[in-house]
Amino acid sequence: MTDTEIKKGLAGVVADYTAVSKVNPETNSLLYRGYPVQELAATQPFEAVAYLLWNGELPTDEQLAALRAEERAHRALADNVKAAIDLLPLDAHPMDEVRTAVSVIGASDTTGAGSVLDAAGSPEENLARSVRLYAALPAIVAYGQRRRRGEELVAPRDDLDYAANFLWMTFGEESHEVVVDAFNRSMILYAEHSFNASTFTARVITSTLSDLYSAVVGAIGALKGPLHGGANEAVLHIFNEIGSAENVTAWLDEALGAKRKIMGFGHRVYKRGDSRVPTMHQALLTLIEHYDRPDVLALYEALEGEFVARKGIYPNLDYPSGPAYDLIGFDILTFTPLFIASRVTGWTAHIMEQTASNALIRPLSAYNGPDERHVEGYVPDEAALAAAQRAEEAAD
Ligand code: COA
Repeated sequence: MTDTEIKKGLAGVVADYTAVSKVNPETNSLLYRGYPVQELAATQPFEAVAYLLWNGELPTDEQLAALRAEERAHRALADNVKAAIDLLPLDAHPMDEVRTAVSVIGASDTTGAGSVLDAAGSPEENLARSVRLYAALPAIVAYGQRRRRGEELVAPRDDLDYAANFLWMTFGEESHEVVVDAFNRSMILYAEHSFNASTFTARVITSTLSDLYSAVVGAIGALKGPLHGGANEAVLHIFNEIGSAENVTAWLDEALGAKRKIMGFGHRVYKRGDSRVPTMHQALLTLIEHYDRPDVLALYEALEGEFVARKGIYPNLDYPSGPAYDLIGFDILTFTPLFIASRVTGWTAHIMEQTASNALIRPLSAYNGPDERHVEGYVPDEAALAAAQRAEEAAD
C-alpha cells in the first residue's frame, strides 16, 4: 500500500451517511436536521434543539413541554454521583471528573446490565437514557466548578429553563437575560458537528453493540484533547499570556517563530471560516457590552486580525466562546465540560443513528513493522499441532 492510499487521520474519508447534521465547507454552513444552526441559535431554546437532534423535527409546544418536564425531573445531582465526584482530588481535571460521573450514571442504570448482548438497548431505552444524561450533566459541571471553589452544591430550580437553570446551579444566583441568551446560543452552537473526533469515537464504540454510556464516556475522552474540545480552554490561556491588545504582535512573532499552534484557529473541515463563529461572535459582543469590557474586544480583534493576515487561518467556534465563558464567570477549566453538556445531544443522536443502521467500524492498517522473525530457541511441537488439526477435522 502506498502513502497516498493511506488516509492519515482519515482526512477526506466519508465513513457513513448521517441525517443528523450537514457541514458544508464550500458554503460555510452547518445544518442540524436541515436547519441552519444560526437560525436555531437565534430563535430556539436549547431544549428544542436537543429534541430536534434526537427526533429529526423541531418540537410542537406539547412535545417541548414534555421534554422540559422530563429534563426538569432529572436535573438534581444523584447522591451516588456526588459521592463519586467528592472522592476525586480537587485538582482532578474537570473533564476526568465529568467522564467519571457519566461512568457512574451508566453503571447505575441497570437496564440492559444482565448481559452484554442487551447492552445496546432499544431505541426507546436509548432516547430515555439520552434525555436523562442531558438533564443530569449541568448539575455535574456546575457542582465541579463550585467544589473547586470551595462552594456548596446548589439545587436546581424548576421554574427556570435549561440555560438559566444551568447558570443558577453554577453561580447560585439568577443571571441577566443577556447572559442567559448568550449561553443558550453557545449550547446550541456546540451541540452537533457531524463526524468530528468525539462523535466518531462514540460511533465506533456503539458499532460494537456496546452501551450508550460507554460511547459517551469514550467521546468525552476524545473531546478532552486540545486539538478538539480542549481548544476553548487553551484560547483563554493564550489571552492571559498575551495580556492586552498591544502585546499581540510581539507575542505572535514569538509563538509563530516557535512553530506553536494558535488555539482557536483552524479547522479540519472549514478552510475559509467556521460557520458557527459569526453567531458566537455576536453573542460575545453582547456580553462585552453587558460587562463593559472593551479591553477583551480589543485583544480579541487584534489577535484575530493579525493571525488571519499572517497565516490565512480563520477562527473556529472556540475562539469567541472561550472569552464569552470567561466573561460569564466560568473557570477556564470548566469550559470543555460545558462543551460536553451541549455535545451530549449530538453524540446521543449519532449513537441512536449508528444503532439503527449498524456496521462494525473496523478499518485496515498497512503494516510497516519488522519482517517476520522468530523467537530464539523456539521449536514447534509438530506432534501436538498435528493432533489439534486432526481433532478439528473430526469436529467438522
Ligand atoms: N496555528 C498555527 N498554525 C496552524 C493552525 C493554528 N491554529 N492550524 C493549522 N495550522 C497550520 C499547520 O501548522 C500546518 O502548517 P504546515 O502545513 O506548514 O505544517 C497547516 O496549517 C495545516 O494544519 P494541520 O494541523 O495539518 O491541519 P488539520 O486539518 O489537521 O488541523 C486543527 C486542524 C483544528 C487540528 C488545527 O487547525 C489546529 O491544531 N488548531 C488549533 C486547535 C483548535 O483550535 N482546535 C479546535 C478545532 S474546532
